[in-house]
Amino acid sequence: MEKFIIEGGFRLHGEVSISGSKNAVLPILSATLLHKGKYKIKNVPKLQDVYTMIELLEFLGCKTKWTDQKTLEIDTENADNYLAPYEVVKKMRASVLVMGPLVGRMRRAVVSYPGGCAIGVRPIDLHIEGLKKMGCEIEMRGGYLDVKARKLKGARISFPTKTVGGTENLLMAAVLAQGETVIENAAKEPEVVDLAKMLKKMGADIQGEGTDVITIRGVAELSACEYEVIPDRIETGTFLVACGITNGEILIKNCNPEHLRAVIEKLRESGIEIVEKDGALYAAMKRKRPLACDVSTMPYPSFPTDMQAQFMALMCVANGVSTITENIFENRMLHVAELKRMGADITISGRTAIVRGVKSLSGAKVMASDLRASASLVLAGLRSSGMTEISRIYHIDRGYERIEEKLRALGARIERVRDENLPT
Ligand code: EPZ
Repeated sequence: MEKFIIEGGFRLHGEVSISGSKNAVLPILSATLLHKGKYKIKNVPKLQDVYTMIELLEFLGCKTKWTDQKTLEIDTENADNYLAPYEVVKKMRASVLVMGPLVGRMRRAVVSYPGGCAIGVRPIDLHIEGLKKMGCEIEMRGGYLDVKARKLKGARISFPTKTVGGTENLLMAAVLAQGETVIENAAKEPEVVDLAKMLKKMGADIQGEGTDVITIRGVAELSACEYEVIPDRIETGTFLVACGITNGEILIKNCNPEHLRAVIEKLRESGIEIVEKDGALYAAMKRKRPLACDVSTMPYPSFPTDMQAQFMALMCVANGVSTITENIFENRMLHVAELKRMGADITISGRTAIVRGVKSLSGAKVMASDLRASASLVLAGLRSSGMTEISRIYHIDRGYERIEEKLRALGARIERVRDENLPT
């Protein structure tokens, strides 16, 4: 295993380019299962989760090839398998996103039931209920969901709570179903919209993506396509915080400010200067310490749960007390204990963390627990005096492409080394 060693106290300055969105590319790769053909997906980030999805697609019979640093060609001509095995699904819950397209095209899917993860139980009951409404029979056997549908018909599906994956799975199941499907209380995240845009390029009939109600009329035939994935809004937000926490000045290129309005507003409130100019973001932090401000995570377009841990790192050194409430996942505060090892003053009460800003943090040995918690610890390390060692950084590689190289290019002192204390 590997760890990061960070020497804190260096201002970030210069330019960084944002990679393609992890949470857009995963459903988009799954969607290629809806039609046998040759696809070209551009702006694909080189992330562990993308490699896992590629492994799953190849297990299902697809052939894949990187034609350049960011372009992946996928041939689904022989995608005749509908089994998503435990060995793959246990590595990445988002594997469950193959269920919708497999059922959509083959009327069959056998998918290992995804376990929870560090941040929560992560149920998929809403995915299952929606598929049943469309005519699927679903059995749980030996840890696998066995989904069958003699006929897949359109249905009216009203989600009691917003679910990104649930919206995406049912969107993909509906595009070849007979008749009309209406998804009410649909997720509106940019990644859902990106998937819908790709499906429409394939010939799907979809209206309302990005609003609370999405209407899909089933079509008889789809076609393969070329598609370019949107930039990663969470990586963008993470680098904005990196600029703020190190009193830096950076230009963030290849991003889409439209996708993270709530994050930009909140970071401006904390005192970071953020200026948009032709698809890039210029950020500078002239204040010694950020201003304390409260955040409550909610579905898009509100402040995203995936930025909660990173924002908390910034508030740890703010001038004042802030409250951070996590409304989406029941256990997404695992970074708190590690931040406290670095001198942060945080108390948790229910779903809310009360953060009393301190003048400075001090480097320590800490452990990553999940993807965004790891990012939070890197950000705190950049600000801390002395050295910080972060173990189990495989978590961060799931969602950030070469984060240490990008940070080093901005002037950070961060190295990836083998962790002699943990088995390889
Ligand atoms: C997606 O997860 C993202 N992952 C997550 O990003 C993100 O945090 C989450 O959406 C919320 O925005 C990908 O897109 C691959 P949900 P997903 O279904 O689809 C409950 C990251 O760090 N729920 O919107 O699994 C669920 O428990 C990751 O990049 C049900 O109760 O999230 C949660 O409380 C982490 N039943 C809430 O809804 C269901 O059937 C939101 O979950 C489905 C969800």
